[in-house]
Amino acid sequence: MTGGERRILHTDGVSVSFGGVRALVDVDLDVHESQLVGLIGPNGAGKTTFIDAITGFVRCRGHIELDGHDLSSLPPHARAQLGLARTWQSIELFDDLTVRENLAVASHRQSVWAAVRETVSRPLASTTAMDETLALLGLEPLAEVLAIELSQANRKLVGVARALAAGPRLLCLDEPAAGLDSRERAELGRRLRSVVDAGTPTLLVDHDMGLVLSVCDHVVVLDFGKVIAHGPPSAVRRDSKVITAYLGSAAAELTDPSLESADEESRAGASEEP
Ligand SMILES: Nc1ncnc2c1ncn2[C@@H]1O[C@H](COP(=O)(O)OP(=O)(O)O)[C@@H](O)[C@H]1O
Ligand SMILES: [Mg+2]
Repeated sequence: MTGGERRILHTDGVSVSFGGVRALVDVDLDVHESQLVGLIGPNGAGKTTFIDAITGFVRCRGHIELDGHDLSSLPPHARAQLGLARTWQSIELFDDLTVRENLAVASHRQSVWAAVRETVSRPLASTTAMDETLALLGLEPLAEVLAIELSQANRKLVGVARALAAGPRLLCLDEPAAGLDSRERAELGRRLRSVVDAGTPTLLVDHDMGLVLSVCDHVVVLDFGKVIAHGPPSAVRRDSKVITAYLGSAAAELTDPSLESADEESRAGASEEP
């Protein structure tokens, strides 16, 4: 991040409890303009709960600001109107609609109420915004293809495109790379980088650190609801608490030198560390 860049998302002491489970404990996380921030942690660490908390889908304690607006007491639709967009872990597209039509309609939600809430809250994207979004994500050639005919990787991209089409101030993505192979993950990473470089700061959640460490500017690591490390990918991958939290297959990834060079390459030419 370059010095003095505007803070888009600011959270201070965000905490969520589900009965006796403390899903988040005093989480502080900022996303600045032109930043791709990664939020990683093992399954159950609290990543989805963090997105739910900032978008207003679970009650939380603490302070949440978007672009200087205090979101803490606002319902989800008001947060969406202020420019907070998200994707869900399981992406549902309208299979009998084309890619372009999927961008034009409000996205499907788990409950009817949530769908209604989103329908009234999100402005439909203009044709120009849709075309720009499709181009940014490399989906232009697929614009008239039915969603049911898409590969899993392209379905994920359409999910991202749909959240992006309304022109949000912050994009929050919950495990957009789940189910993709390593080549598809790398391609998704490049696309997300171009989304951020084109002007939409993004919070990228993933449980697998490879993608996040290779494309993000800044990484926050959760374990059992607490932030155990944060910083640039190069520092986070060497952090002993992170390695311990990820003991197992992902620990090998942390020390994989090929990822390190990917990390440096993908971030070269992007914003310089101060
Ligand atoms: N609606 C809920 N009710 C009760 N416990 C929940 C609920 N949602 C999440 N949890 C618990 O909160 C913790 C964090 O979950 P989650 O945010 O889904 O983790 P992650 O996305 O990092 O895998 C887990 O222990 C999970 O079981
Ligand atoms: Mg999750």
